[in-house]
Amino acid sequence: MNYRHHFHAGNFADVLKHAVTLRLVAAMQRKPKGFLYLDTHAGRGGYDLTGAARGDSLERQPEWPDGIGRLWTAPDLPVALAEYVEAVRAYDRRQGNLTAAPRFYPGSPALVGAVLREQDRMVLCERQPDECAALRMAMARTPRCTVSESNGYTAVRAQLPPPERRALVLIDPPFEGESEFADIADALRKGLRRLPDAVMAIWYPLTRRARVDAFFEALAGASLPATLAAEIEVADDDAPIKMRGCGVVVVNPPWQVAAELEPAVQALGQLLAQRAGAVGRLTWLVPER
Ligand SMILES: C[S@@+](CC[C@H](N)C(=O)[O-])C[C@H]1O[C@@H](n2cnc3c(N)ncnc32)[C@H](O)[C@@H]1O
Repeated sequence: MNYRHHFHAGNFADVLKHAVTLRLVAAMQRKPKGFLYLDTHAGRGGYDLTGAARGDSLERQPEWPDGIGRLWTAPDLPVALAEYVEAVRAYDRRQGNLTAAPRFYPGSPALVGAVLREQDRMVLCERQPDECAALRMAMARTPRCTVSESNGYTAVRAQLPPPERRALVLIDPPFEGESEFADIADALRKGLRRLPDAVMAIWYPLTRRARVDAFFEALAGASLPATLAAEIEVADDDAPIKMRGCGVVVVNPPWQVAAELEPAVQALGQLLAQRAGAVGRLTWLVPER
């Protein structure tokens, strides 16, 4: 497994995933009772974007300019995007960037860690030893944070139900192996059996539509509670790019989240467009009852 997230940090996929995740955290925090944030595939916590231009041996085209770079100074963003950009800016400043362009980009652990309340806590799983060591360092000063060098799918079963009886789970795999969609469906089933109200967010790439449709069908057959998909296509079907979009499936979306995310996801379709045919949309896979 060779995946290193720092090549992709701040790209269009991170923008969608992190804007949705922050909104979900804000929605969980509308209630005073604490919750567990479980990040099954946590990465290294935060990223230096200057490293994104260097491969192990070759120069690479950084991806962040077509992601966070497009939003950095964009005016009149919908609330969910404005809050996300402000959170990224705050992290960038905390890490010491004094320039106008983004330099440091937070991963999901750093973004969520910055807004956890005293009654909330986080468990972060990362299987790759070097990434996990970097994650431990990045999160060392975050209170109520446990870092585990382990398989995140196993953690869904091990951590649920938490003593708080409330949980937000982010499942954000690298999709290197063939079994990733099946592993996600399995983790969802097992997690929801243990905590039926768990809010679960699953990131997925849109490489081939048929693959995503098959994933949605598998979810539909799993008798899920209310579930929505926030999806962006940055280019149409015929575009010669590998990942032409991505999405986040949200199981048990908290009250009002769909209405808050809809304008943000639609705006992202335009802001992150790479070719004609770009679009952002919110779809209910299982409608609210
Ligand atoms: C897409 S990155 C995560 C990015 C992170 N969630 C963020 O938003 O900043 C996926 C990470 O999962 C790790 N990984 C792969 N398989 C895993 C598994 N089964 N359990 C835990 N981590 C895994 C990889 O090493 C990689 O760092």
